[in-house]
Amino acid sequence: MSVAFLDLAGDVHSGRAELDAAIGRVLERGQFVLGEEVAAFEEAFAGYCGVRHAVGVASGTDAITLALQALGIGSGDDVVTVANTCVPTIVGIEGSGARPVLVDVDEDTLTLDSALLEAAVTTRTRAIVPVHLYGQCADLDPILAFAGKHGLKVVEDCAQAHGAEYRGRRAGSFGHAAAFSFYPTKNLGGFGDGGAVTTGDPDVAERVRLLRNYGEQERFEHVVRGRNSRLDELQAAILLAKLPHLDAWNERRRELASVYHDVLARAPIGIPSEASGRRHVYHLYVVRSRGRDALREALARRGIGTAVHYPIPVHLQPAYRELTSSGDGLEVATRAATEILSLPLHPGLTDDQAREVAAALVELS
Ligand SMILES: Cc1ncc(COP(=O)(O)O)c(C=O)c1O
Repeated sequence: MSVAFLDLAGDVHSGRAELDAAIGRVLERGQFVLGEEVAAFEEAFAGYCGVRHAVGVASGTDAITLALQALGIGSGDDVVTVANTCVPTIVGIEGSGARPVLVDVDEDTLTLDSALLEAAVTTRTRAIVPVHLYGQCADLDPILAFAGKHGLKVVEDCAQAHGAEYRGRRAGSFGHAAAFSFYPTKNLGGFGDGGAVTTGDPDVAERVRLLRNYGEQERFEHVVRGRNSRLDELQAAILLAKLPHLDAWNERRRELASVYHDVLARAPIGIPSEASGRRHVYHLYVVRSRGRDALREALARRGIGTAVHYPIPVHLQPAYRELTSSGDGLEVATRAATEILSLPLHPGLTDDQAREVAAALVELS
């Protein structure tokens, strides 16, 4: 049996009637930008995350930019983040005018190693963007304590962590603000681009609302310099229809992860671990193998789709080489990029498919 890495059409199929009704509602109403669906989704998503405010924007990348700008961060400022993230984290930081400063990650979770913050911070540093990678929160307590001590803002990158928890609270409710992506492959994904900023601070929420809509307060009255970064009504309606299912989908991801864990414990490869006090929502199930490339090819020959998130860490990307003078201090991220392999995992995957993938890995590794 061949197993695709993702099956977005199959995942849509299971909720087709609700989605058609949501889309139909928008078409009937004839309002397509910043209307009832966006407002309803923002309220529902804020409630889900356990924060007071959520503001829909055009993408997760924009959510990072607008959250930083709303916190007063921009040109001349440094923002600390990790080297093994999706490049959009860096694009989002640079969009605010600030300069990204890369730190390494801890070996077990591949999320920001807070012990390295002290050495990374200078008088220019204004914020930290921890990335909740693969569906697991970074270790937020020491990051928040460090930020508090040094007067830094924290913007969580939650693009891969809808519904993930840290000490019983959901991702997106810890920082001064947080950025979510609703790209179609995410645990909560639309049928196009979309994002949101969550925050407990009404002033930050208000500033993001202005910034996403050309800085317009009243019609044709522009009080700050903003841009066009709006979540559209169709995406909001789709996300609103999908949100009540997110917990069940995350639970299904966790079940599939335990199917993988059980079988792969017998294989000579590294399997992802859930750090204590955290609830992993397995946006991605990432194993580690020194023979990653050969393993990936052998799996492909059997019709098993895999992916690598991410094969080139930010500091080794041609476009971003000048961010660091060398890869010094980024050894964990650099090595991980050569070993990581993401296995198929989405709510529509069956236990049998997961067992088949895991059995193939045991045999081939
Ligand atoms: C960790 C991370 N940050 C930021 C983003 C940016 O999100 P978007 O693609 O919606 O701009 C993504 C997803 O692409 C991501 O995985």
